[in-house]
Amino acid sequence: MPLTRKAYRAAILHSIADPAVVGIEASYEYFEDGLLVVENGQISALGHASELLAHLPADIEINHYQDALITPGFIDTHIHLPQTGMVGAYGEQLLDWLNTYTFPCESQFADQAHADEVADIFIKELLRNGTTTALVFGSVHPQSVNAFFEAAHKLDLRMIAGKVMMDRNAPDYLTDTAESGYQESKTLIERWHGKGRLHYAVTPRFAPTSTPEQLTLAGQLLTEYPDLYMQTHISENLQEIEWVKELFPERKGYLDVYDHYQLLGERSVFAHGVHLCDDECARLAETGSAVAFCPTSNFFLGSGLFNLPMAEKHNLNVGLGTDVGGGTSFSLLQTLNEAYKVMQLQGARLSPFKSLYLATLGGARALRLEERIGTLQPGTDADFLVLDYHATPLLSYRLTQARSIAETLFVLMTLGDDRTVSQTYAAGQLVHQR
Ligand code: GUN
Ligand code: ZN
Repeated sequence: MPLTRKAYRAAILHSIADPAVVGIEASYEYFEDGLLVVENGQISALGHASELLAHLPADIEINHYQDALITPGFIDTHIHLPQTGMVGAYGEQLLDWLNTYTFPCESQFADQAHADEVADIFIKELLRNGTTTALVFGSVHPQSVNAFFEAAHKLDLRMIAGKVMMDRNAPDYLTDTAESGYQESKTLIERWHGKGRLHYAVTPRFAPTSTPEQLTLAGQLLTEYPDLYMQTHISENLQEIEWVKELFPERKGYLDVYDHYQLLGERSVFAHGVHLCDDECARLAETGSAVAFCPTSNFFLGSGLFNLPMAEKHNLNVGLGTDVGGGTSFSLLQTLNEAYKVMQLQGARLSPFKSLYLATLGGARALRLEERIGTLQPGTDADFLVLDYHATPLLSYRLTQARSIAETLFVLMTLGDDRTVSQTYAAGQLVHQR
């Protein structure tokens, strides 16, 4: 294959560590006039333009972006493809919301043509918003996951997804059985896991919708294949937590249900965790599991405020999730805007550099992919964004008043959304141009 080498010149910023661990100043690298060099889909160099240009051939192709910031692609650690058509459904909390809106909407994915259509819309929406990797719930139908992976593979995206397993407490038209859920998951794993940059996630919806038999088989899949992911929901809503206690009276609590069925581990991601206690955070951290913090959803469904300082105290890996369609935006910038408010309401702060970390390297660590994505370190996948300082008139004017990269970053997260993302690159290819 001929060498393809291109360079991208702009202000460049990326996280290199968790600010909670190393302090803010040591957590990022910023190049006011930076250069990112990409070769065959990977980053080969990053640094100050003046220094790197001296070592590059004079005829190298350079894309020079004025008044723009290059960052790593965003990582969404929790989102539902089949809920794209029901974002912003009015007026219920979790359990009624599932029955009233979610299950009927997801039932449409029995139809492959519908699944293909929505997968296309969904992936375009991810890329428009600068999300280059997502951990995705399909519906109970394998069609939803086939449609998603088919479309993601064409663009050589690094994506993770799985078909929902749910064999009770849901309408008949939307349930599998312990055995069919296991077999259908296995067929999808054989077809997609490890193909290009795709990975499979075993996906029991949440404890109330799986029988003990199904949870046992979900655990079995994780032992049968190396490096599979596991995604589910936990402790999002108080009524839900009471229901889990009724359904599993022999278990100590919600997390203990998943623990009992051996669903915790380094590639396990639990969405929400709004009402986790100290001991549960400690156990999640001990097993290397991660939590997806989904602020727009937690506000929208009235679920509560995620306790990020408690997670940090336990060194628990936390990624950021949009949780569309409980969440109301595909934009991780808007998700960070809401995350800031979650912290404010608890008397705490979310620094813009911690926010950047959560949307990039923190998400990569939650997914155990930090060697490949989440930073702009040479040797990693060239998944990156160009953020436009003039995306809207207000942003443009507001940034004339910004005195530091910290302030610029914070304003991008407060006022920014899909309009802010002018280009999205995945594996070095332009996959979205505003
Ligand atoms: N718990 C179980 N299923 C769901 C879902 O689809 N969305 C959210 N937010 N929580 C859930
Ligand atoms: Zn969810």
